[in-house]
Formats: sequence, C-alpha cells, structure tokens
Amino acid sequence: MDAAQLKIEAARVALTHVSDGMKLGIGTGSTAEAFVRLLAERVAGGLSVIGVPTSERTAALCRELGVPLSTLEETPELDLTIDGADEIDPELSLIKGGGGALLREKIVAAASERMIVIADRSKVVDVLGKFPLPIEVNRFGLRATEIAIRVGAAELGLSGPLTLRMTGDQPFVTDNGHFILDASFGRIPDTRALSNVLHAIPGVVEHGLFIGLASAAVIASDGGAEIIHA
Ligand code: A5P
Repeated sequence: MDAAQLKIEAARVALTHVSDGMKLGIGTGSTAEAFVRLLAERVAGGLSVIGVPTSERTAALCRELGVPLSTLEETPELDLTIDGADEIDPELSLIKGGGGALLREKIVAAASERMIVIADRSKVVDVLGKFPLPIEVNRFGLRATEIAIRVGAAELGLSGPLTLRMTGDQPFVTDNGHFILDASFGRIPDTRALSNVLHAIPGVVEHGLFIGLASAAVIASDGGAEIIHA
C-alpha cells in the first residue's frame, strides 16, 4: 500500500468507532482528510453525526462534502475526536501541528471523551522530537518569546534551531491569528517537563505536545491496521 492508501486504511478502521448520534471532533491534515471523505460517504448513506472541525480547512472540506457541522460554542462536549499526528510515542503522546492547527486541535481533543489518532506506521517513534515541535506564539514580543523558549529549553538540556514558519515570504498565520515557531530540539526525553516550561512563557499560546489526550491510535501498515490503546 502507498502512503495515501495507508491513511485511508487507518481512517476506515477509525470510522468503525463512529456511531449514530455522535458529536465528533474532526482533525486536520491529510490523514484527517481521508477520514472526512469516508465519513461523508457514511453521512450520505444516512449516518447522523455532528462534527466540530479543528481548522477552517477541515470546515471547508466538511461543508463541501455535506458533513453537518457545529461549533465548540454550540457543542462544547464531544464524544470522540479523530485526528492525525506528526509523531506518536509508545504511551500515545503526540507531536501535532505540522498543519498549523495545533491550538484548535488540542482544545477540541480536550473537549472530547475519547481521541483516536490515525496514522501510518512512519509516524510511530520511540521518543518524540525528530519532527520539529510546533509552538504557536503571539505575534507581540516574538523575539522575547523566542529567547524565553531557548532559555527554558536549555534548562532541560534541549537546544536547536527555532524557525519561524513561513508561507512564501510571509510568516504563516494560524486560524487564530498567531505565528508558529518550529523547534528542532531533537529527542525530547521528558515531554511533560518541556510542556510545563513552554506553558509558563506568556508569549506561548500553545505547543504541539499532546500528552494524555489520545485514548487509542490506529496505525496502518502493509500488514494491516493495528489498534494501540493508551
Ligand atoms: C495539523 O495541524 C496536524 O496536527 C496534523 O494532524 C498532522 O500534521 C498530521 O498531518 P498528516 O495527516 O497530513 O500527516
């Protein structure tokens, strides 16, 4: 199976956990998009669900394909969120935000009773951090926030380039109007400590470490899809 087929396979298995009447958080990225396409087919066939999208991009796709949407304001408690990830460790801690939607993804996941991560096996790692960690930051005081992140990370023995994410020659702007710094720290042995350090910095809006949020992961490989429980 090629990468696209593996994403579809993971999405297909996750869809078996969706039942009539569910309030669903709907993730962002190419794997989540595969899920939306399959979900839309089931909706067309009569499945009744309401979706809360984690990005404008996902919202647009859901509208195009006829998946009924709500907002987290109207529907603040969700049954299940299905989303992709950039990296997944054995405890189902994640790095997310490669698509820039980490803040809404984390808010939606935290508002859900369960979160199922869908991915191909290439996303599974022993220790998080090969994928640069996305950190969503306020535009105000960008340089000061960057320095604070460096200092905080250094206290944990972490260092590496912090790169302002760009779109062409302009900074990438999230759906919430913020910038993203991609932190290439390499292996992050203590994700909780880094999470605490980052949350203590006023200019940091949120970071892409998802700890204790995923309840299961569907990992697709050539041998089939494996379900890992947290
Ligand atoms: C979006 O912000 C991300 O968290 C995505 O979930 C993540 O980047 C995975 O995307 P793909 O499914 O495209 O790899």
